[in-house]
Amino acid sequence: MPDLMDAVTSLAKRRGFVFPSSEIYGGLRSSWDYGPLGVELKNNVKRAWWRRVVQLRDDVVGLDAAVIMSPKVWEASGHLEVFTDPLVECRNCHQRFRADHLPGVHAPQSGHEEDDTTIDMATRPTCPSCGHHDFTDARNFNLMFKTHMGPVADEADAVYLRPETAQGTFVDFVAVQQSSRKKIPFGIAQIGKSFRNEITPGNFIYRMREFEQMELEFFVKPGTDEAWHDRWIEERMRWWTDLGIQADHLRLREHGEEELSHYSKRTVDIEYAFPFTDWGELEGIANRTDFDLKRHQEYSGQDTTYFDPDTEERYHPYVIEPAAGADRAVLAFLLDAYREEEAPAASGKTERRTVLGLHPELAPVKVAVLPLSRNERLVPAARDVFDLVKVRWMCDYDDAGSIGRRYRRQDEAGTPLCVTVDFDSLDDRQVTVRDRDTMGQDRLPMDKLTDYLQERLP
Ligand code: GAP
Repeated sequence: MPDLMDAVTSLAKRRGFVFPSSEIYGGLRSSWDYGPLGVELKNNVKRAWWRRVVQLRDDVVGLDAAVIMSPKVWEASGHLEVFTDPLVECRNCHQRFRADHLPGVHAPQSGHEEDDTTIDMATRPTCPSCGHHDFTDARNFNLMFKTHMGPVADEADAVYLRPETAQGTFVDFVAVQQSSRKKIPFGIAQIGKSFRNEITPGNFIYRMREFEQMELEFFVKPGTDEAWHDRWIEERMRWWTDLGIQADHLRLREHGEEELSHYSKRTVDIEYAFPFTDWGELEGIANRTDFDLKRHQEYSGQDTTYFDPDTEERYHPYVIEPAAGADRAVLAFLLDAYREEEAPAASGKTERRTVLGLHPELAPVKVAVLPLSRNERLVPAARDVFDLVKVRWMCDYDDAGSIGRRYRRQDEAGTPLCVTVDFDSLDDRQVTVRDRDTMGQDRLPMDKLTDYLQERLP
């Protein structure tokens, strides 16, 4: 098989999952657009997260906070001060790099308070662009995108695009708790865009400057935080494997003391075996303590405590935060689902097929309806089947090319089931359903089709 990352990137572009943004102008390296199949896949990932984290629980509620918030939020959260990456410049070609991404350089990760001297450049790393070894000292580069609110670009009107959704949750904590009347322990979940001016975006949709996060802030009584942290680590690992990621492609990694973000007491990453790096972060699960709520109380002058009506105690809850990237999730699901294999062809020989073995809950299209040909007698029957199925599942109607070619197209789009309408269907009112993974076929009456699909699809 060709390099997996190349194969997936090329499939993603060819089939309209993900392609470079504004490509007719040469693209923008860190921005990507989700095409027709990609938007379905990403929506399904987000829906699966929301269903598991919000809908199926009675202790989590949802929120959709603004991207642009009061700049005071970022003072209080510490992001203005410490949300930095170490930036170095090659003295020969003047390209800029994140120092800790240069081979052989050690440094704490983003958002960790540090001074330049903790970046060890003494190993004389090689410039990935020109091969020289002469770099400037590292300086802390703030990752937040800054803009101005209103018609005058005045420093007093400076605002920031949020680099995490979490702060919207913290500043709304009291409003959400009081309006939902939730008692601790309970969580507030949010899915939305975040922005980071990454020094070195790349590896397709792994590291972008505009990306989407799926973040839960779970508020617990201090003292119960460590047990809740462990529970959430387990639950989040289960979510990934339940949706089809192979267990041996995932691992947990504990952050070292020097690596912890400024707000964290303990962080455990769920890492995936991305092919371009040994292991890469998919989701971080942090114990943020009461850091954020306390800081917002301090900076806003407003009470951000929780009052427990049962014990009549008032306190700042601790926060357990499972925070995943929706785009990284899409990439991991695509990589894990991709396979190339030999399959029987109509000629009796075999041919190579590409399959995206996506979990049915994630598959962009659940059912493809395929008339055997464009014969005018077949079309009304096939349209009837499409109309029957489309109200319940995302469907594709495809009548272009040989049936074998159409099966291959649906296989590489990850469509779990194809329904074929042939000339016999006109007489016996039966259709053939073909399974993406086994390629097995079942013949069944049209009026049993919905029940049949119901048993196999979410
Ligand atoms: N609120 C905590 C927080 O934001 P994080 O580990 O910085 O923690 C959480 O981000 C997740 O967001 C990461 O595990 C990753 O999946 C995703 N993420 C972070 N930066 C990203 C980027 N530049 N591009 C794509 N996804 C990113």
